[in-house]
Order: sequence, then structure tokens, then C-alpha cells
Amino acid sequence: MAIYNLGSINADWFYKVPHFPADGETLAAESCTGGLGGKGANQSVAVARAGGNVHHIGAVGGEGGWTLERLKSMGVDVSRVAIEGAGSTGHALIFLTPDGENRIVIHAGTNRMIAEADVSAALERAGPGDMLILQNETNCTVFAAKSARARGMRVVYSAAPFDVGAVREMLPHVDLLAVNEIEAAQVAEALGVALTALPVRELLVTQGARGATWFDLKTGETLAVPAPKVASVDTTGAGDTFAGYFCAARDRGLPVAECLELAVGASALKVTRAGTSEAIPTLAETRAFLEEIGG
Ligand code: RIB
Repeated sequence: MAIYNLGSINADWFYKVPHFPADGETLAAESCTGGLGGKGANQSVAVARAGGNVHHIGAVGGEGGWTLERLKSMGVDVSRVAIEGAGSTGHALIFLTPDGENRIVIHAGTNRMIAEADVSAALERAGPGDMLILQNETNCTVFAAKSARARGMRVVYSAAPFDVGAVREMLPHVDLLAVNEIEAAQVAEALGVALTALPVRELLVTQGARGATWFDLKTGETLAVPAPKVASVDTTGAGDTFAGYFCAARDRGLPVAECLELAVGASALKVTRAGTSEAIPTLAETRAFLEEIGG
């Protein structure tokens, strides 16, 4: 079936720094490189590289044609991405320390200028069995989730960057919520319920270098997978890689344990590479990596 992704598209600017700048500190970067990113674009690329059929929904500015060419070259359908001449493509400034950790500032640009009519048009051919995935870097998320549900689609929401108000609004229209462990605790606290009592059918919690856990909150079934140990070069986009891989594998009907294994394998491999969309591994690379560390 098909995966539709209402998601951000950013120009990512990476600055390698010896440490994160302190208050009032001016710091010289050791290098500066650019590439394609945005939580949405990264997830679309992860779905495509995991073998999924993905249609990206979003908007870029008039100068953002290169992002669409790049997405296309990585197997993503971009025919539903609008060119919004009145705005500029979103971008992210990413500070990266030698241990592979990051701090990110984003400017939404056209990611928050998406028209409801474009979302409706993009979902016109979608139906039961198809999936809508979304994150928190665009507008129209609630509208898209409601529209997808009305069409019988499954809705997967990665609540990143985390915003408790957005999660509250989205949850009634979501089948699977994907968060990291800090965010999971924040949602539960904000709603005043235990993690396992969140009002959503499935919950996927990433735990960084420790792996990930999936919960079926209706049946109480839980599955946890450890993350392979790797030398971290750049963690940026690892969560997006995880989410995209998990969705693509679920879409193919693989058992949840296998979806988790592929998703942690792909995100661990991503962490060993610098960059975002372009650094996301293919399914063949992920399988080879898992085989290598398994044997
Ligand atoms: O999750 C990583 C992404 O967050 C980067 O690609 C950056 O664009 C920001 O959206």
C-alpha cells in the first residue's frame, strides 16, 4: 500500500563545533556543510530506502527546487509538494559536537504555509490500508489526520519537535504515537495518565542508544529491542530514520518484532554517518549490517 507523508523539507546546515556555545559565547565552527533535511523529508527518504512507496506532501519556496530533485533521486514521489513563491524553504542550523550530539534551530518557512486544499488533493486517491505519517514541523497536521481517518487510513504521528499542546490536539486522530522516552513521560504527565494509559492504540518509544519499545495499549502487548552498539558520528535524523523504517516495514505487513529490528538497525547505521536525508541507509545496507552484528 502507499504511505503519504505530510512533512517538513529543510535545507540543513551543519556546523561542527568543539562544544555547544555557552551563553554569550562566540564560537568558530570547524566546518560547515549543507544537505537535505527536515524531519518530514528524512522520514520520506527512510520509507523509500526501506522499500516503501511514499508520497510526500508539503511545500517549498521558489528557490527550493533542489530539495525536490534530491527527494526524487532518492525514490520519493514529490508530485504533491507545492512550490510556494511567497515564502522560502525551511532550514535548520545544526551544531554538532565531536561525540555526535546535536543542537538544532529550525526556521519553518514554507513548511508552515501548506494549504488545506493541497493536503486534500494529495490524499484524493488514498484509502483504507494506506498510511499517513506526520511530524510537528508543518501546519495542517490535525486537518490531515482527520482527513486521513475519514478515508480509513492509519495515522502515525511522530510528536517531534515536542509540543504538548500539539500532541493533545492530535491524539484523538492518531493510531500510533512515536516519541522518545523523555517526550513519552512529558505527554503522560501533561495528560495526567500513566504511559500505558495514553489514549492511543499503539505507542512507539525510542530510547536512544538503548533501543526502542513498542506497546499495543489495547492488548497490553509490549516488544523491546536493544540498539546495536556503534561509534556515534552524528545522531541527527536517527529518530526520523527509525520512524520511516518502522512505518515502511509495517506497511509491508512484517511482524512488529521485525519492523523494530530493521528500524533500530537502520537508525544505528545512520548514527555512524554524517548528514541527514542523504545519510539514511538502504534496506540492503541495513540487512547487511544486522547480519554482520548478529553473526
Ligand atoms: O530530525 C532531524 C531534523 O530536524 C533535521 O534534518 C532538521 O532539519 C530538523 O528538522
